[in-house]
Amino acid sequence: MSHVLASRKERPWWRDAVTYQIYIRSFADSNGDGIGDVEGIRSRLPYLKQLGVDAIWITPWYPSPQNDHGYDVSDYMDIEPQYGTLADAEKLIKATHEHGLKFIVDIVPNHTSDQHKWFQAALKAAPGSPERDRYMFCDGKGPNGDLPPNNWEAVFGGCAWERVIEADGKPGQWYLHLFAIEQPDLNWENPEVRSHLEDVLKFWLDRGVDGFRIDVAHGMVKYPGLPDIPEVNTTSEMLAPHERPFWDQEGVHDIYRSWRKILDSYPGERMAVAEAWVSPASRIARYVRADELQNSFNFEMLTTLWNAAEIRAKIDNSMQALVEVGAPPSWVFNNHDVVRSVDRLDLGLTNNGESTFTRQGDPAKFNIARGTLRAKSANLMTLALPGGTYLYQGEELGLPEVRDLPEDRLTDPRWKMSGYKDRGRDGCRVPLPWKSEPTGGFGFSTNELLELDQAWLPMSPWMGNFSAESQDGVAGSTLTIYRQALALRKLEEGLGDGPMTWIEAGKDVVAFSRPGNFACYINFGAAIEIPSGAKVLISSGALEGNLLPTDTAVWLRVNS
Ligand code: NOJ
Repeated sequence: MSHVLASRKERPWWRDAVTYQIYIRSFADSNGDGIGDVEGIRSRLPYLKQLGVDAIWITPWYPSPQNDHGYDVSDYMDIEPQYGTLADAEKLIKATHEHGLKFIVDIVPNHTSDQHKWFQAALKAAPGSPERDRYMFCDGKGPNGDLPPNNWEAVFGGCAWERVIEADGKPGQWYLHLFAIEQPDLNWENPEVRSHLEDVLKFWLDRGVDGFRIDVAHGMVKYPGLPDIPEVNTTSEMLAPHERPFWDQEGVHDIYRSWRKILDSYPGERMAVAEAWVSPASRIARYVRADELQNSFNFEMLTTLWNAAEIRAKIDNSMQALVEVGAPPSWVFNNHDVVRSVDRLDLGLTNNGESTFTRQGDPAKFNIARGTLRAKSANLMTLALPGGTYLYQGEELGLPEVRDLPEDRLTDPRWKMSGYKDRGRDGCRVPLPWKSEPTGGFGFSTNELLELDQAWLPMSPWMGNFSAESQDGVAGSTLTIYRQALALRKLEEGLGDGPMTWIEAGKDVVAFSRPGNFACYINFGAAIEIPSGAKVLISSGALEGNLLPTDTAVWLRVNS
């Protein structure tokens, strides 16, 4: 089915929204404890409005022991006390709408926290009980059940099974946790689990949210019988996600069909976006079929090298697969799980015993000027491509990865679960610098006495140079360019959803046109000439006369 193109005002907002991801712990601290909160977000809505985004997505704000910073939920229908109250959340949703922005919450349906009352009840209950059946409890293998039920490994490292002590004081059954030990997987074959999560959706829809970001959207259903992954393939990169018995199984699509009915039963254009790490692109497209979800993150750019051919191919693959189902692409260059793009686009990602997503290339070779320029160019590219984009807080500031976090301050469960080999994802989660002066963690906190190392993750002295304040109104700063690009994007009817055409401009150039005599060029190689007669609308870096230097992007008005 192909989508009939409607004008921007007529088409659903989620077809080409620019959505700003707020990592709530690190966005803005209103009560001075060094931890971001709901009221902090409310205080910064004018900034987001001025930036020009269309929607915000808040990472999990539910009560949680914070083993995985909110992705371990202990109650889906309340707010983490560190962050505020349910009343604060309702006030924020209303204020966001008053600013003309849409509001997306994060939903975590694959697992709960081990502190969730269901899991606590399961621990106290006997094997085979209804309480245990809400989770993935199994007997172990071997004569005494001493061995885990299968050979699955946790995403954060180590075995994906944890053994519990039964009421008789002896080791007993095992439970599955595809992520941290403190994140037991729910059993989606159990109707009670399904209906509870549907109630959760309704709870937040009733409070006015416009959408959901679905965590581990490809993980909830496991292959019947929980078979081993063939030994030989356990660490193989060649195995497609859906060939693993716990990812991208057919059954997840039934869940989304029922969720879509719920979304559609509410007034307004309610939506959901899948966090589905699946491949190839045709598997992603299955999540956004007409009766399923509206968006699915396109993660190809999180692993790309700064290379024209690779980027062009990734865009092509994604677009082709999505056209088949009539869904728009959702581009992503940054989120809270990967090394920030300023570093990544300069150094690439290497897998050195650490997760591909947390390991950057050789930091000794880091050229920040080059990385910054590339990240700015990537921003111009994504904002010109068809569809919508999800940007991660700090991306609009060109914030680099924080590499100097002391080991004793690392909090990501990956650090411990990898046997202290993988430093994890904290480097992209450090609180945002708002002001140039270090007071209150560069304005992150209202507490002026807060020292940089008293923020929940220590802030680095150099961060002030990247603050919103220090870039505000400065020509050519990442923030200024981002604001200009978003303002222009709103005026250009041909941007966002709609067709694009590749322009052949050489092997080291990615170039495409959009309706309205608009073109975007990104140059990965030696300087090239800007097409004659073209008017430069915006550029990511300085131009040399009519030359587009390396690593630089331009938006052009070209001759018809
Ligand atoms: C994906 C989230 O983005 C990540 O931060 C989290 O650790 C895992 N899902 C587990 O919930």
